[in-house]
Amino acid sequence: MCGIVAIIGNQPVAGRLVDALKRLEYRGYDSAGIATLYESVMERRRAKGKLFNLEKLLSDEPLAGTIGIGHTRWATHGIPNETNAHPHFIEGVAVVHNGIIENFSELRDELTAGGAVFTTQTDTEVVAQLVARYKRQGLDNRAAMLAMLNDVTGAYALVVMFADDPDTLMAARFGPPLAVGFGRGEMFFGSDAIALAPFTNEIAYLVDGDCAIIHRGGAEIIDFAGNPVERPHQISQATAFVVDKGNHRHFMEKEIYEQPEVISHALSHYVDFQTHTLRANDTGIDFGKVSGLAISACGTAYLSGLIGKYWFERYARLPVEIDVASEFRYREIPLSKDQAALFISQSGETADTLACLRYCRDEGLKIGAVVNVSESTIARESDAIFPILAGPEIGVASTKAFTCQLAVLASLSIRAGRARGTLDGADEKQLVRHLTGMPRIMSQVLNLIQPQMESLARDLSKFKDVLYLGRGTSYPLAMEGALKLKEISYIHAEGYAAGELKHGPIALIDENMPVIVIAPHDRFFEKTVSNMQEVAARGGRIIFITDEKGAAASKLPTMATIVLPDVPEIIAPMVFALPIQLLAYHTAVFMGTDVDQPRNLAKSVTVE
Ligand code: G6P
Repeated sequence: MCGIVAIIGNQPVAGRLVDALKRLEYRGYDSAGIATLYESVMERRRAKGKLFNLEKLLSDEPLAGTIGIGHTRWATHGIPNETNAHPHFIEGVAVVHNGIIENFSELRDELTAGGAVFTTQTDTEVVAQLVARYKRQGLDNRAAMLAMLNDVTGAYALVVMFADDPDTLMAARFGPPLAVGFGRGEMFFGSDAIALAPFTNEIAYLVDGDCAIIHRGGAEIIDFAGNPVERPHQISQATAFVVDKGNHRHFMEKEIYEQPEVISHALSHYVDFQTHTLRANDTGIDFGKVSGLAISACGTAYLSGLIGKYWFERYARLPVEIDVASEFRYREIPLSKDQAALFISQSGETADTLACLRYCRDEGLKIGAVVNVSESTIARESDAIFPILAGPEIGVASTKAFTCQLAVLASLSIRAGRARGTLDGADEKQLVRHLTGMPRIMSQVLNLIQPQMESLARDLSKFKDVLYLGRGTSYPLAMEGALKLKEISYIHAEGYAAGELKHGPIALIDENMPVIVIAPHDRFFEKTVSNMQEVAARGGRIIFITDEKGAAASKLPTMATIVLPDVPEIIAPMVFALPIQLLAYHTAVFMGTDVDQPRNLAKSVTVE
């Protein structure tokens, strides 16, 4: 999603703006630009594609100035090109924007009728045009900003710089996140604390309906009517993490290999590794008292929720309603106040997930957030925060956040089972023991399968379509496998419940479509093997991801068999996630795609 940075300081800002934009690259973008103000003249440099294009432009044509704004754009209205790249300039007003101005076409018509000339296809340009119009009508900068904010509807975070005021930057939030950073004699705006981490860790997050005005000496925050509001300052944790690939080629690879460590960290928040019991931390949700659970999320987070549903239903006999957030929010689901709702989101900022949260809150449900960013909007608007503690995830394709979400959901389902009396103390101990053994097993598996995954990826890269099959919790995992592969290698892939094979996908089976079967030797194994037989009988090529018992039990010919250790059922989804992640990763590397920032995708989707 678009990224915003802005600096008002005492040293040249152009290079610092680009550095900050680099820290926002992980969000996904297709063009970038910066603007600075120097001796009453605003100038900008913008470039399509990656930031090095912008850097090259800046080295040929540098920008001076100690005040400036920067932007990485993920195209929504208008193709990604230099003209549509931000900042947008109208008569001494410069704007960068993340989000969507929903009434932009009405505003555009109205402004055009009044003589305005639009030069871009973006919705953002109306913001600059409106502010410029109000200034022409005699309003001062602050009044023009507020008048514009009262005209636009939609979801936006925006920053405005004025050519006639080198001492002020203004910003507003209604939807996508925006933070104010406090430095010494310099001030900042940023889409997140990661962008601002090299400059400051003292942050105030704006909330919807806030307008912030910064000067070198501080910030003033007002609502859209101009009344002052206070927002607490926080010390962001983002500075504690070095956003660095270490000795890995890509962030995604680093994040895959970090999993044993970060899962330990996540688990230790929920379970005691010594006594193999749940920690008695107050969760804010009494699972013993709720009549059901509603779960909603997007992308990979949704698929972890789907696996969570199996666990809550099995271990706690707790009915779970789950849907992708973009459907959930409009389905008019009958909900009751004695249900609880869980929202799973790595970023904690996904617009659809946030909208579902607000819907459930209005319906009177208790809200829990399973998030990686504890300072995020979703976390802040929840009754209970269940941190996944994965550390910053930079690769757009989610890996460690997925398995940490699963570790947290597994722990919560055991907690729910205890609270509801469906699990006893001995069950708790056994299941927690399984969870605490998981990081060690994941480390073994990563070492064990690496060479095989690399060579298999070469073979897989020759195909155009791939089918993933699984049953039980391996079904959502099959969907996650397909999602990972298509996201980063651009090979078409689908994940199906193995039992659905006969109801459609079997028509596609031939030697040109490998079928990846995820089948630990669990309750469903025999049934999945019979689906494999149906594939084999039609000349399909099978990549069989199983465990030692499963490999011994099946005699079917395969294109490859990946054998993992036999593991307890509750940890199988996390352990079996490793080969599907590595297979997608190596296939993409082999194909030479942009693994960490795949085309058209964004890390954090803050628009609907
Ligand atoms: C985007 C990302 C996915 C992520 C999804 C939900 O599509 O590319 O990796 O799973 O958003 O994001 P969230 O931050 O809510 O988990």
